[in-house]
Amino acid sequence: MPKLLNILILTHNLALKTQNFHWNVQGSNFYSLHKMFEEQYEEISNSIDEIAERIRILGDKVPSISQNLEINPNLLPSDMLKNLALDHENIILQIEDVKKSSDDVTVDMLNERLAAHQKHLWFLRSSFA
Ligand SMILES: [Fe+2]
Repeated sequence: MPKLLNILILTHNLALKTQNFHWNVQGSNFYSLHKMFEEQYEEISNSIDEIAERIRILGDKVPSISQNLEINPNLLPSDMLKNLALDHENIILQIEDVKKSSDDVTVDMLNERLAAHQKHLWFLRSSFA
């Protein structure tokens, strides 16, 4: 699988999971987590189009990226935070790997994605109970 396509799929999955947790989170910190997950899924969703268009600019077609993604909507808030943090840690590693074999303009885009995921990760970790 082309490496940028892998980043697109990971980004898409993370947006879906973050939005699902936005809907399903419960508990005493409901409002702040509901809002934080909203801000994060919107930012992540907005990047999907940019990544997909970069794939087109580089000459490849973009296949369907919908997958059967397993999301547990019944997690405790602390487990939602940790689950998302793990996904951000993983996508950061994957992006750093893809950067090694990318052109300068793609690297610029990927650096923007790294900065965004690092910031989301900071917010998530800072919310751990
Ligand atoms: Fe909403």
